[in-house]
Order: sequence, then C-alpha cells, then structure tokens
Amino acid sequence: MSEILNTILRGDTKIKLREIPDNFVDIGVTSPPYNKGEKQKGWLVKNVEYDNAADKRDESAYQAEQIEVLNELWRVTKEGGSFFYNHKTRWERGKMIHPMEWLLKTKWEIKQEIVWDRAIAANLRGWRFWQVEERIYWLHKPKNGNLIGEELISKHALMTSIWRFAPEQKSAHPAPFPLQLPLRAIYSILDDNKDCVVIDPYSGSGTTLLAAKLLGHNYIGVEISDTYIKMAEERLANYQSETAVFKDEIAKHTVRETFKERKDRGVYHHHDKKKRSELAEASLRGLFGS
Ligand SMILES: C[S@@+](CC[C@H](N)C(=O)[O-])C[C@H]1O[C@@H](n2cnc3c(N)ncnc32)[C@H](O)[C@@H]1O
Repeated sequence: MSEILNTILRGDTKIKLREIPDNFVDIGVTSPPYNKGEKQKGWLVKNVEYDNAADKRDESAYQAEQIEVLNELWRVTKEGGSFFYNHKTRWERGKMIHPMEWLLKTKWEIKQEIVWDRAIAANLRGWRFWQVEERIYWLHKPKNGNLIGEELISKHALMTSIWRFAPEQKSAHPAPFPLQLPLRAIYSILDDNKDCVVIDPYSGSGTTLLAAKLLGHNYIGVEISDTYIKMAEERLANYQSETAVFKDEIAKHTVRETFKERKDRGVYHHHDKKKRSELAEASLRGLFGS
C-alpha cells in the first residue's frame, strides 16, 4: 500500500477513498466545498468557482455526501486518530445551516469546535454582523472506547480555541486555506513524530500535503481537478520556498513560562489583589506572546 503514499489520487473523493485500507491514516485536515452557491457578492469578494466541481447542490444531498465521505475517513483513520474539518455556518433564504447538523450523524466524536478568525468578511451586506470567522471541527476516533483521548502536550494546548490567521491571498486556487492552519493541526497532534500518514480528501492546491511534508510526514491527497493537482505537485516540489511560514508557526508552540514557574514567582498568591491580577495578566501576555 506504500504506493499511495505521497501521491494525490485523482477523482471523486467518495470513490477514491475506497482505495485506502482501514486504519491507515494518523490524521487528516480538509476544507470541503461548502455548497454555498451565493448570489454575486459584489466588487470586493469574488464568488468561489472551482475548476471541475459545482459548489451548489441540493443541501440534503450535499450533507448526505459529506456524511458518507466523513465515515470513509473514519474507516481509514487509525484508532486514536484525529481529523480537522474546516467549515462554516451558512444561511439559505434566511435559515441557518450549521455543520453540526451532519457532523453529529457521522461516526466521529467531536472533540472541539475551533473558531478560525480570518479578520475579513466574505460578504459585505448588512443582514447580519459581518461574518469574519469559519469553524474547524476537531474530530476524533476513540481508541478502546476512550472518548476523552490523549492529552495534548502543553506547548500545543496553549494555542487556544481561537485561531487567528488571514486567508491565503497569493494562491491561484479560489479557496485555499493558509499553510498555518494544517501546520498547527498536524504539529499539535503528532508533535515531533515523523513518518506518520496525513490525508486531505479535498486537497486543492496541496496546503495540507505541504504542511505534512514540511513536518516530515507522508501525505495522501484526493482532488477532482487536474489543474489543482498540477498546482499542488509544483508546490510540493518547491516546498522549501514556504519554510518561513513553517518556522514561524513552530516557534509559536513554546511554553515561555510554566505554571510552576509562574506560581513560584507569586503570580497567584500576591497579598494585594490588584497586583495579583496585574501579574496574572502580564504572565498570560508572556505565555501567549502578545
Ligand atoms: C475548499 S477547496 C480546498 C482547498 C485546499 N484546502 C487548499 O488549501 O488549496 C475544495 C477542493 O475540493 C475539490 N473538490 C470538489 N469536489 C470534489 C470531489 N467530489 N472529490 C474530490 N475533490 C473535490 C475542489 O476542486 C477544490 O479544490
């Protein structure tokens, strides 16, 4: 089965995933087509139009397909493995559609809902407050019935459940996510392990695959468009040109001061309440580097 490692499978993901054996993959990260089909958004933000796939279908058919794909991903993932699924809340004729509607119907346990603050609105009409966020669902396949799973190493756990990075602007792909996103997901779970298997079932311009390669892992991509496969292959061949983003993300996974060090410094026990709160605040700034 090693022939599928470090390749991009060409075709419809729900069919191509069947080629992957059970319990083969350590972690996955993806952003599927969102089934948005919005009307023309205006002059600032272009509609997403993929090369070889329509992004507007009957919503119940779309959700059924996402459940099928997610269950295939569950099958190919090892017990104890994780999958990071990027999606967003949408509205159709005033009714909200939430990703939980179909995620709860899959075999996955939902470990966390992460908010991705993109700091930019995709739609500038004022029916609602500008939606600047997307969501990333951390899904988990329990090992031996343990729903809680492994604890994160503290340098990764301090990342918080709000991830702030701007959308990717330079890519020729219409809807790529930034390299930091899969880097953070993969590095937080696999830490300094190497040679694990990372999957992206809608691999687009290859951002997840590149993150896997930069972190020393194997990847499997699936993509329906030849144009995007070529784009991803070129990017993977030139992976060294993106090492600056990689180093920047890795550097964020650092505990500047441990809990014990803060405690020893009296952060939590200063007799003056105001001083105690100042120390705690300064200490958190040190911890998160802002
Ligand atoms: C949101 S984009 C993913 C972008 C990717 N995360 C990146 O950073 O470039 C979704 C991708 O799924 C592909 N796609 C759509 N339907 C598909 C299908 N049924 N099977 C495989 N790929 C599909 C599209 O061509 C598109 O590249």
